[in-house]
Amino acid sequence: MSRPIILGIVGDSAAGKTTLTKGIAQVLGPENVTLICTDDYHRYDRQQRAEIGITALHPDCNHLDIMQQHLSLLRTGQPILKPVYSHKTGTFEAPHYIKPNKFVIIEGLLGYSTRAARDAYDVKVYLAPPEQLRAKWKVKRDTQKRGYSAEQVLAELEKREPDSEQYIRPQRQWSDIVVSFYPPNGEDDETNGHLNVRLVLRPTIPHPDFTPIIKSSTGDSDSAIRLGLDRDMSKPVDVLEVDGHATLEQVNKLEHVMCSDMPYLHSVCDRESNPELGKVAGTTGETLQSYPLALTQLIITYHMLKATQMYQ
Ligand code: G6P
Repeated sequence: MSRPIILGIVGDSAAGKTTLTKGIAQVLGPENVTLICTDDYHRYDRQQRAEIGITALHPDCNHLDIMQQHLSLLRTGQPILKPVYSHKTGTFEAPHYIKPNKFVIIEGLLGYSTRAARDAYDVKVYLAPPEQLRAKWKVKRDTQKRGYSAEQVLAELEKREPDSEQYIRPQRQWSDIVVSFYPPNGEDDETNGHLNVRLVLRPTIPHPDFTPIIKSSTGDSDSAIRLGLDRDMSKPVDVLEVDGHATLEQVNKLEHVMCSDMPYLHSVCDRESNPELGKVAGTTGETLQSYPLALTQLIITYHMLKATQMYQ
Protein backbone atom coordinates (compact mmCIF):
# COMPACT_ATOMS: atom_id res chain seq x y z
CA MET A 1 0.00 0.00 0.00
CA SER A 2 1.25 3.46 -0.81
CA ARG A 3 0.10 6.44 1.20
CA PRO A 4 1.54 9.86 2.03
CA ILE A 5 3.97 10.13 4.91
CA ILE A 6 2.80 12.75 7.38
CA LEU A 7 5.12 14.99 9.41
CA GLY A 8 3.87 17.27 12.18
CA ILE A 9 5.68 20.47 13.17
CA VAL A 10 3.96 21.92 16.23
CA GLY A 11 4.96 24.82 18.48
CA ASP A 12 3.89 28.19 19.77
CA SER A 13 3.57 31.30 17.64
CA ALA A 14 6.92 32.26 16.04
CA ALA A 15 8.73 29.18 17.38
CA GLY A 16 10.37 28.65 13.96
CA LYS A 17 7.82 26.24 12.44
CA THR A 18 7.73 27.73 8.97
CA THR A 19 11.52 28.01 8.69
CA LEU A 20 11.97 24.37 9.63
CA THR A 21 9.09 23.25 7.42
CA LYS A 22 10.49 25.03 4.36
CA GLY A 23 13.95 23.61 4.95
CA ILE A 24 12.67 20.04 5.18
CA ALA A 25 10.56 20.54 2.04
CA GLN A 26 13.74 21.69 0.26
CA VAL A 27 15.56 18.54 1.29
CA LEU A 28 12.68 16.25 0.25
CA GLY A 29 12.17 18.15 -3.02
CA PRO A 30 9.36 20.74 -3.02
CA GLU A 31 7.55 18.85 -5.80
CA ASN A 32 7.17 15.86 -3.45
CA VAL A 33 5.75 17.83 -0.53
CA THR A 34 2.32 19.22 0.36
CA LEU A 35 2.50 21.96 3.01
CA ILE A 36 -0.43 22.63 5.29
CA CYS A 37 -0.65 25.27 8.03
CA THR A 38 -3.32 24.61 10.63
CA ASP A 39 -3.91 28.36 11.10
CA ASP A 40 -6.31 27.82 8.20
CA TYR A 41 -8.61 26.00 10.62
CA HIS A 42 -9.20 29.08 12.81
CA ARG A 43 -12.89 29.30 13.65
CA TYR A 44 -13.06 33.11 13.94
CA ASP A 45 -11.45 35.85 11.92
CA ARG A 46 -9.27 38.50 13.57
CA GLN A 47 -12.09 40.90 14.29
CA GLN A 48 -14.36 38.21 15.74
CA ARG A 49 -11.54 37.01 18.00
CA ALA A 50 -11.06 40.53 19.32
CA GLU A 51 -14.79 40.91 19.93
CA ILE A 52 -15.17 37.58 21.70
CA GLY A 53 -11.91 38.01 23.60
CA ILE A 54 -10.45 34.63 22.61
CA THR A 55 -6.92 33.95 21.34
CA ALA A 56 -5.99 31.89 18.27
CA LEU A 57 -4.27 29.44 20.64
CA HIS A 58 -7.48 28.31 22.32
CA PRO A 59 -8.91 25.00 21.04
CA ASP A 60 -12.40 26.58 20.90
CA CYS A 61 -11.01 29.12 18.47
CA ASN A 62 -10.21 26.39 15.92
CA HIS A 63 -12.16 23.82 13.93
CA LEU A 64 -10.13 20.95 15.39
CA ASP A 65 -12.73 18.42 14.24
CA ILE A 66 -12.32 19.46 10.61
CA MET A 67 -8.53 19.54 10.97
CA GLN A 68 -8.65 16.02 12.39
CA GLN A 69 -10.89 14.77 9.60
CA HIS A 70 -8.62 16.31 6.97
CA LEU A 71 -5.56 14.73 8.57
CA SER A 72 -7.19 11.30 8.33
CA LEU A 73 -8.14 11.89 4.71
CA LEU A 74 -4.63 13.02 3.80
CA ARG A 75 -3.13 10.02 5.54
CA THR A 76 -5.11 7.71 3.30
CA GLY A 77 -4.11 9.71 0.23
CA GLN A 78 -7.43 11.48 -0.29
CA PRO A 79 -7.89 15.10 -1.32
CA ILE A 80 -9.36 17.78 0.96
CA LEU A 81 -11.09 21.11 0.53
CA LYS A 82 -8.98 23.18 2.90
CA PRO A 83 -10.10 26.50 4.39
CA VAL A 84 -7.72 29.43 3.93
CA TYR A 85 -6.92 32.07 6.60
CA SER A 86 -5.01 35.14 5.45
CA HIS A 87 -2.52 36.53 7.94
CA LYS A 88 -2.39 39.64 5.83
CA THR A 89 -6.06 40.58 6.14
CA GLY A 90 -7.03 38.51 9.19
CA THR A 91 -9.98 37.08 7.24
CA PHE A 92 -10.86 33.87 5.41
CA GLU A 93 -10.48 33.38 1.67
CA ALA A 94 -11.93 30.84 -0.75
CA PRO A 95 -10.97 27.26 0.20
CA HIS A 96 -8.31 25.33 -1.75
CA TYR A 97 -8.63 21.84 -3.17
CA ILE A 98 -5.53 19.92 -2.07
CA LYS A 99 -4.30 16.54 -3.27
CA PRO A 100 -1.55 15.13 -1.06
CA ASN A 101 1.91 14.54 -2.49
CA LYS A 102 4.22 11.77 -1.33
CA PHE A 103 5.02 13.78 1.83
CA VAL A 104 2.68 16.04 3.77
CA ILE A 105 3.98 18.51 6.36
CA ILE A 106 1.40 19.86 8.78
CA GLU A 107 2.60 22.84 10.80
CA GLY A 108 0.67 24.75 13.39
CA LEU A 109 -0.30 25.57 16.93
CA LEU A 110 -2.61 22.72 17.98
CA GLY A 111 -1.68 19.81 15.72
CA TYR A 112 -1.31 17.28 18.57
CA SER A 113 -4.21 18.42 20.70
CA THR A 114 -6.50 15.44 20.08
CA ARG A 115 -5.83 11.73 20.07
CA ALA A 116 -7.25 11.21 16.58
CA ALA A 117 -5.07 14.00 15.18
CA ARG A 118 -1.95 12.57 16.82
CA ASP A 119 -2.64 9.17 15.30
CA ALA A 120 -2.39 10.61 11.81
CA TYR A 121 1.31 11.48 11.92
CA ASP A 122 4.28 9.30 11.08
CA VAL A 123 6.74 11.71 12.69
CA LYS A 124 5.90 14.31 15.32
CA VAL A 125 8.21 17.28 15.99
CA TYR A 126 7.69 19.94 18.67
CA LEU A 127 9.58 23.23 18.54
CA ALA A 128 10.58 24.70 21.90
CA PRO A 129 13.01 27.63 21.70
CA PRO A 130 13.67 29.54 24.94
CA GLU A 131 10.75 31.94 25.50
CA GLN A 132 13.03 34.98 25.28
CA LEU A 133 14.22 33.98 21.83
CA ARG A 134 10.68 33.20 20.67
CA ALA A 135 9.51 36.64 21.81
CA LYS A 136 12.31 38.21 19.80
CA TRP A 137 11.42 36.15 16.70
CA LYS A 138 7.76 37.04 17.11
CA VAL A 139 8.39 40.77 17.40
CA LYS A 140 10.63 40.63 14.34
CA ARG A 141 8.16 38.68 12.19
CA ASP A 142 4.96 40.41 13.26
CA THR A 143 6.41 43.91 12.87
CA GLN A 144 8.07 43.18 9.53
CA LYS A 145 5.47 40.94 7.91
CA ARG A 146 2.16 41.37 9.69
CA GLY A 147 1.97 45.12 10.26
CA TYR A 148 2.01 45.17 14.09
CA SER A 149 4.06 47.47 16.35
CA ALA A 150 6.55 45.94 18.81
CA GLU A 151 4.36 47.10 21.73
CA GLN A 152 1.32 45.38 20.22
CA VAL A 153 3.24 42.12 19.79
CA LEU A 154 4.56 42.17 23.35
CA ALA A 155 1.08 42.89 24.73
CA GLU A 156 -0.34 40.05 22.61
CA LEU A 157 2.33 37.65 23.92
CA GLU A 158 1.33 38.49 27.47
CA LYS A 159 -2.35 38.06 26.69
CA ARG A 160 -1.71 34.66 25.11
CA GLU A 161 0.54 33.28 27.84
CA PRO A 162 -2.23 31.48 29.79
CA ASP A 163 -3.34 29.67 26.61
CA SER A 164 0.27 28.89 25.68
CA GLU A 165 0.72 27.28 29.05
CA GLN A 166 -2.55 25.40 29.06
CA TYR A 167 -2.89 24.28 25.42
CA ILE A 168 0.33 24.70 23.45
CA ARG A 169 3.25 23.64 25.64
CA PRO A 170 1.68 20.39 26.96
CA GLN A 171 1.77 19.07 23.37
CA ARG A 172 5.51 18.64 23.77
CA GLN A 173 4.78 15.32 25.50
CA TRP A 174 3.34 13.80 22.31
CA SER A 175 6.31 14.54 20.07
CA ASP A 176 8.96 12.11 18.88
CA ILE A 177 11.56 14.89 18.64
CA VAL A 178 11.71 18.16 20.58
CA VAL A 179 13.81 20.78 18.78
CA SER A 180 15.24 23.72 20.75
CA PHE A 181 17.51 26.24 19.06
CA TYR A 182 19.27 28.38 21.66
CA PRO A 183 22.02 31.01 21.81
CA PRO A 184 25.34 29.68 23.14
CA ASN A 185 26.02 30.56 26.80
CA GLY A 186 22.68 32.32 27.01
CA GLU A 187 24.12 35.06 24.82
CA ASP A 188 21.78 37.54 23.25
CA ASP A 189 22.33 36.61 19.63
CA GLU A 190 20.86 39.26 17.35
CA THR A 191 21.65 37.54 14.09
CA ASN A 192 20.54 33.99 14.89
CA GLY A 193 23.66 33.13 12.95
CA HIS A 194 25.24 30.69 15.35
CA LEU A 195 22.50 29.18 17.42
CA ASN A 196 23.09 25.77 18.96
CA VAL A 197 20.43 23.08 18.82
CA ARG A 198 19.25 20.61 21.46
CA LEU A 199 17.30 17.64 20.11
CA VAL A 200 15.33 15.49 22.50
CA LEU A 201 14.99 12.07 20.88
CA ARG A 202 12.20 10.03 22.40
CA PRO A 203 12.13 6.25 21.96
CA THR A 204 8.74 6.51 20.21
CA ILE A 205 10.48 6.16 16.84
CA PRO A 206 13.75 4.31 16.13
CA HIS A 207 16.62 6.79 15.91
CA PRO A 208 19.90 6.16 14.09
CA ASP A 209 22.76 4.78 16.17
CA PHE A 210 24.66 7.95 16.96
CA THR A 211 27.23 6.28 19.21
CA PRO A 212 30.09 6.59 16.64
CA ILE A 213 29.97 10.30 17.48
CA ILE A 214 30.69 9.61 21.11
CA LYS A 215 33.50 7.25 20.22
CA SER A 216 35.10 9.65 17.79
CA SER A 217 35.05 12.46 20.31
CA THR A 218 36.01 10.05 23.12
CA GLY A 219 33.01 11.13 25.11
CA ASP A 220 34.51 14.59 25.27
CA SER A 221 31.92 16.94 26.73
CA ASP A 222 33.73 19.85 25.06
CA SER A 223 32.95 18.46 21.63
CA ALA A 224 30.67 20.60 19.46
CA ILE A 225 28.40 17.57 18.94
CA ARG A 226 27.28 15.70 22.05
CA LEU A 227 25.03 12.76 22.78
CA GLY A 228 23.70 12.06 26.25
CA LEU A 229 20.88 10.74 28.43
CA ASP A 230 18.37 12.92 30.16
CA ARG A 231 14.73 13.16 31.19
CA ASP A 232 12.10 15.21 29.42
CA MET A 233 8.76 15.75 31.16
CA SER A 234 10.07 13.10 33.54
CA LYS A 235 10.49 10.42 30.81
CA PRO A 236 13.95 9.07 29.87
CA VAL A 237 15.22 10.39 26.53
CA ASP A 238 18.38 10.65 24.44
CA VAL A 239 19.64 14.15 23.80
CA LEU A 240 21.75 15.22 20.84
CA GLU A 241 23.30 18.67 20.91
CA VAL A 242 25.02 20.44 18.04
CA ASP A 243 26.81 23.75 18.56
CA GLY A 244 26.71 26.53 15.99
CA HIS A 245 30.49 26.42 15.76
CA ALA A 246 30.67 22.69 14.87
CA THR A 247 33.21 22.03 12.11
CA LEU A 248 32.45 20.48 8.74
CA GLU A 249 34.45 17.41 9.75
CA GLN A 250 32.31 16.89 12.86
CA VAL A 251 29.14 17.47 10.87
CA ASN A 252 30.25 14.95 8.25
CA LYS A 253 30.66 12.26 10.90
CA LEU A 254 27.11 12.75 12.08
CA GLU A 255 25.81 12.77 8.53
CA HIS A 256 27.65 9.58 7.75
CA VAL A 257 25.70 7.78 10.47
CA MET A 258 22.41 8.77 8.83
CA CYS A 259 23.35 8.63 5.19
CA SER A 260 25.20 5.33 4.98
CA ASP A 261 22.12 3.23 4.18
CA MET A 262 20.16 5.99 2.47
CA PRO A 263 21.42 6.87 -1.01
CA TYR A 264 19.12 9.87 -1.33
CA LEU A 265 20.31 11.46 1.91
CA HIS A 266 23.86 10.65 0.91
CA SER A 267 23.42 12.75 -2.21
CA VAL A 268 21.92 15.59 -0.16
CA CYS A 269 25.05 15.64 1.97
CA ASP A 270 27.43 15.47 -0.98
CA ARG A 271 28.06 19.20 -1.02
CA GLU A 272 30.62 19.22 -3.80
CA SER A 273 28.83 17.26 -6.49
CA ASN A 274 25.42 18.53 -5.51
CA PRO A 275 25.78 22.21 -4.65
CA GLU A 276 22.07 22.99 -4.73
CA LEU A 277 21.07 20.30 -2.28
CA GLY A 278 24.35 20.77 -0.44
CA LYS A 279 23.36 24.33 0.21
CA VAL A 280 20.33 23.08 2.07
CA ALA A 281 22.54 20.73 4.04
CA GLY A 282 24.50 23.67 5.39
CA THR A 283 27.51 24.67 3.37
CA THR A 284 29.60 27.67 4.19
CA GLY A 285 29.54 30.99 2.40
CA GLU A 286 26.43 32.43 0.89
CA THR A 287 23.89 30.13 2.49
CA LEU A 288 21.57 31.08 5.29
CA GLN A 289 21.72 27.67 6.85
CA SER A 290 23.68 26.87 9.94
CA TYR A 291 24.91 23.36 10.65
CA PRO A 292 22.57 22.87 13.61
CA LEU A 293 19.57 23.76 11.43
CA ALA A 294 20.84 21.68 8.52
CA LEU A 295 21.40 18.62 10.73
CA THR A 296 17.99 19.03 12.35
CA GLN A 297 16.39 19.04 8.91
CA LEU A 298 18.42 16.01 7.92
CA ILE A 299 17.47 13.98 11.01
CA ILE A 300 13.77 14.71 10.46
CA THR A 301 14.08 13.86 6.77
CA TYR A 302 15.79 10.60 7.75
CA HIS A 303 12.69 9.67 9.74
CA MET A 304 10.38 10.59 6.86
CA LEU A 305 12.35 8.35 4.51
CA LYS A 306 12.43 5.51 7.04
CA ALA A 307 8.64 5.78 7.34
CA THR A 308 8.46 5.49 3.55
CA GLN A 309 10.42 2.26 3.66
CA MET A 310 8.22 0.91 6.40
CA TYR A 311 4.85 1.81 4.99
CA GLN A 312 5.16 1.83 1.23
C1 G6P B 1 -0.32 33.87 15.88
C2 G6P B 1 0.01 32.59 15.28
C3 G6P B 1 -0.69 32.46 13.98
C4 G6P B 1 -2.16 32.74 14.12
C5 G6P B 1 -2.26 34.15 14.56
C6 G6P B 1 -3.61 34.75 14.55
O1 G6P B 1 0.46 34.88 15.37
O2 G6P B 1 1.38 32.39 15.08
O3 G6P B 1 -0.37 31.26 13.48
O4 G6P B 1 -2.82 32.50 12.95
O5 G6P B 1 -1.70 34.22 15.80
O6 G6P B 1 -3.50 36.09 14.82
P1 G6P B 1 -3.62 37.27 13.77
O7 G6P B 1 -2.42 38.12 13.98
O8 G6P B 1 -3.69 36.70 12.37
O9 G6P B 1 -4.88 37.95 14.14
